[in-house]
Amino acid sequence: MLKINKPSPGNPLTIDVDVEFSLADDVRDTVRWAADFLKKNVNEIPGAAAVSAVTREIRDEVRVVRERDPAAKSDLEVLLLYSGLHAVLAHKVSHKLYKSGHTFAARAVSQAARAATGIEIHPGATIGKGFFIDHGSGVVIGETAEIGDNCTLYQGVTLGGTGKDTGKRHPTLGNNVMVGAGAKVLGPFKIGDNAKIAAGAVVLEAIPEDCTAVGIPARVVRCKNEKVACDANKNLDHVHIPDPVSQELCRLREQMRRLEEEIARLKEERGE
Ligand SMILES: CC(C)(COP(=O)(O)OP(=O)(O)OC[C@H]1O[C@@H](n2cnc3c(N)ncnc32)[C@H](O)[C@@H]1OP(=O)(O)O)[C@@H](O)C(=O)NCCC(=O)NCCS
Repeated sequence: MLKINKPSPGNPLTIDVDVEFSLADDVRDTVRWAADFLKKNVNEIPGAAAVSAVTREIRDEVRVVRERDPAAKSDLEVLLLYSGLHAVLAHKVSHKLYKSGHTFAARAVSQAARAATGIEIHPGATIGKGFFIDHGSGVVIGETAEIGDNCTLYQGVTLGGTGKDTGKRHPTLGNNVMVGAGAKVLGPFKIGDNAKIAAGAVVLEAIPEDCTAVGIPARVVRCKNEKVACDANKNLDHVHIPDPVSQELCRLREQMRRLEEEIARLKEERGE
């Protein structure tokens, strides 16, 4: 508030200034001004575009974890304490180095990330958007592995080679694939979109899209939400149930079902 007293003889000019000072308001105004300034002039600052792209990528990765892990309580917790996120971010750096021919530096970044997180992703592996590694420890992803968008891996998963192939040696995952804890997917074949690989499975050949594979060696037990048929004479699916032991079990189950039906019919005829 400003108050000016009119001067008169014996009464000189006086000015009263009453300023209300608030530190919080000052700080807020300064931050607003700085934010406005940055918004208007961001393109003039060297490297700012790159920094903002990196920030956006980190924010996206944090969002992926928040969406897929109900245990994640805050963005800060995810950013600081999720080793899967750290491994994915490190892979972004190592993959860029690998692509630009700096293979030694790429490998160094990948090994440092492995030491810190227990997750080894080869810098050559190609990984899509929305990739989430839950818990993380013990995950290994090979050089020629390809991972589509929105895939999830749990701890102990290997996307590896069998040692028999050269060139493309590691699997390709489609979009929205889930690979359960401890599962091993070995060889240069494709896991179709939306497939689920059960915890502990060992997958040695391609799995069609929308199917669930379980066991060792993995066999398809469910496709497009339907159980894979197990009828020895009619519908036994030799492509999706590659394990001969499983096929034999299927036949035995089918024989038992028929015998049970026969016994029930005979009992009915005898009036038992
Ligand atoms: C396979 C899985 C994804 C379920 O997929 P689904 O399509 O819903 O399949 P279902 O639950 O209907 O199971 C289908 C069959 O596979 C069997 N099955 C499920 N998981 C299995 C596993 N890990 N190993 C062996 N068999 C398994 C079921 O018993 C069922 O058998 P049935 O048809 O004889 O009854 C789930 O069981 C799984 O393994 N998730 C991994 C999750 C994980 O790793 N969590 C770690 C958290 S720390």
